[in-house]
This record gives sequence, C-alpha cells and structure tokens, in this order.
Amino acid sequence: MLSVTLSFFNKVLAQDLGNKCKALQQSGSQSVKLSRIFFLTPLERFMSRTSSRTSLSRFLIEQTRSHQTPAELRFLIEVVARACKMINHQVSKGALGGVLGSMGTENVQGEVQKKLDVLSNEILLEANEWGGHLAGMASEEMDNAYQIPGKYPKGSYLLVFDPLDGSSNIDVNVSVGTIFSVLRCPDRNGEEGDLGEEAFLQPGTEQVAAGYAIYGPQTMLVLTLGNGVKGFTLDTEMGSFILTNDDIRVPETTAEFAINMSNQRHWEAPVKRYVDELLQGKEGPLEKDYNMRWVAAMVADVHRILTRGGIFMYPRDSREPEKPGKLRLMYEANPMSFIIEQAGGVSTNGYQRIMDIQPESLHERVAVFLGSKEEVERVTGYHSE
Ligand code: AHG
Ligand code: MN
Ligand code: MN
Repeated sequence: MLSVTLSFFNKVLAQDLGNKCKALQQSGSQSVKLSRIFFLTPLERFMSRTSSRTSLSRFLIEQTRSHQTPAELRFLIEVVARACKMINHQVSKGALGGVLGSMGTENVQGEVQKKLDVLSNEILLEANEWGGHLAGMASEEMDNAYQIPGKYPKGSYLLVFDPLDGSSNIDVNVSVGTIFSVLRCPDRNGEEGDLGEEAFLQPGTEQVAAGYAIYGPQTMLVLTLGNGVKGFTLDTEMGSFILTNDDIRVPETTAEFAINMSNQRHWEAPVKRYVDELLQGKEGPLEKDYNMRWVAAMVADVHRILTRGGIFMYPRDSREPEKPGKLRLMYEANPMSFIIEQAGGVSTNGYQRIMDIQPESLHERVAVFLGSKEEVERVTGYHSE
C-alpha cells in the first residue's frame, strides 16, 4: 500500500519537475531563481492554483469599475448568492437534514408546499431584509409583497424570487434551483406606508439583474446584469462562487426540445402542429431528427439550453382556459427570458416577447417558449398563421 502511494507521489513529483523545467526554458530568463521554481511551499502552491481565479466578489467589483454597477446592486447580488449557498447546503443534506417531504400546506397558487420551498423562502428573506438594499420582496411562496421590517433601512431595489424551482424533484434527488429577478423600486414620492403589489408590476425589460442558482452535481450561479451572461461554479472547499463560464451563448440552431408531452391533448393548435413536426423528424417538413429532454425543473432545462442549445416550452392548455400557462411571469419567465436574451436566445409567449408583457398581478402566469432563436421563432410564427 505504502509503495503504491509512494510511486504515485513520485510520478506527480516527476511531472511537476518536468513542467517547471519547461517553464524555465520558456521563460528564457537566467534570472529566474531555481529555488523559486523547484521549492514551492504549500502556501505558494495553493496561491498559484487560486490567484488567477475570478470570484463572484471580484467580478462584481470589476463590474462596478467597468459598467458603473451601483455598489448597492453589487451587495444585493452578493447577499442573494450567500443565501443560495445556504439553500444549497440544506438541499444537499436531504433525508439526513429531515428536510424532505411536504409541509402539509398550500401556497397562494394552490400548490402543495415542500418543506424546502418554505425553508428556502425563509433563508432568502432573512438574508436580504436587513442590508438596506431593498425596498421590498415578493416570492412564489408568499401571497403578498414582503415588507422590510421597520427597524431596518430601506433601499432602492425590489427582489422577486422562486425560492426553490422544480421542488417536485426534491424527493427524487434531481437538480433544483433558485430563480431571482431584480427591479428598481418606483419613486414613492415620500409615501411611507406598506409597499403595494403595484410597485412590482413592471415588464421584464425593466429588470436590472436576473439569475438562478442550480443545485445539481455541481452548484452554479448564472447571472446577467444586462451585459452578457456569466456562470460561476461553487467551490465547496472555499465556499465561494468562481467564474467558470465567461460568456454563455445559446446556439441559434438546435435539434433538442423540452416539453411535458403528457399534456399534448390539451395544447393549442400551433403547438400541436410544431411538436408534431418535431416528432416527424427527417421525414417531416423540418427534415431533421430531434431529441427530447424534460427534467421538470425550469432551472435545469434552461441550464441545459444555455449549455448546448434547445427549445423549452410550457404552453397554455385548455384545462384551465383562464390561466395563460403554468409558469409564473415575474419570478420564472421574466428572469429566465432576460438571461436567455442576453445569451443570444429568444423568449416569447407564442405571440409576443415575454419581457414586453405588462404584468397585472404578482403571481400572473404565462406561456413560455424560449431558447435557440431558429426554433423559438418558428413556433412563435405558427401562432400568427
Ligand atoms: P415550482 O417547483 O417552482 O412550482 O416550479 C415547477 C415548474 C417548473 O420548474 C417546471 O418547468 C414545471 O413546473 C414542471 O411542470 P410539470 O410538472 O408539468 O412537468
Ligand atoms: Mn418554479
Ligand atoms: Mn418554486
């Protein structure tokens, strides 16, 4: 056992030595001290591994310098990221933390609340209420806008979130996530009372930031501040998000689609036509074989699309004609649309750009078609034929 370990160790050392000789040759400088190259202390080794990395904090500070991102917004994003790390910690405990299963309660939309839905909501509220950067919050898990307690200062932003997206996946150990959107609080002309729902009812084009955290095999934070999309991976040893995807782009074309096929018989005609054409593959009018993926957590499906393209659809259906879809505009569709558009993709409700919709209520629903430009434009086109 010991000899195996030693031989492995020797191999690593030999490789290390080889690399350093190469570095010496490449540097071409006689002044490079041999001792500096051959004898790195553990601290130096650690530093050489980590110093070139861009943490979320460093990225945000550099954004402030290059894009005038206000310090208050920077702080807000850092606090949300910290809350996501806490949620990640709870999610990862699973049965050991006693956090699986339902609460036995329903949210305002009549959906059963999981323990982790409620816990994640609490974590986000507690992390964000005291910092002085917010004027109010709203969430999937709360009927009305959340008021910042009077003992804390108020700030100029509004935070809207889905604390745990895809929570039906929790008990089966599949990826879930947190989605958030940041808006400016409209000027209240000195009014002091409770913040009403109207303050939040702004179209997606007004978002100043949006993002999601995905709790999967790796935990990632994907963020837009309106100038591209960045991906950060959680370094669990260091406890910090590190920039790993500098410029996320959605490929314009794709052969992959995501939709809950079990609802097929309830869809509207344009969606039936489009999916029927996808299923006909090479023999059909699209002359291409398509593949299907459906995680049933928007965060995970959108993350896949940001990684390798695709189209995600959650159309309205005829079972509840008064509801224009399942997903919620303010804290699911709008932030994801902002991210997708910033990555070069397209997002519509079949008839118009999602971010142009004027919301009428906090928990309003919307049909969603988002992802690779070519396919989203095709299905959107079918709606107007
Ligand atoms: P949530 O867990 O926040 O209620 O959202 C679940 C949403 C979304 O993430 C996903 O795309 C969709 O519901 C899944 O719907 P189906 O159950 O119809 O597959
Ligand atoms: Mn959700
Ligand atoms: Mn949710």
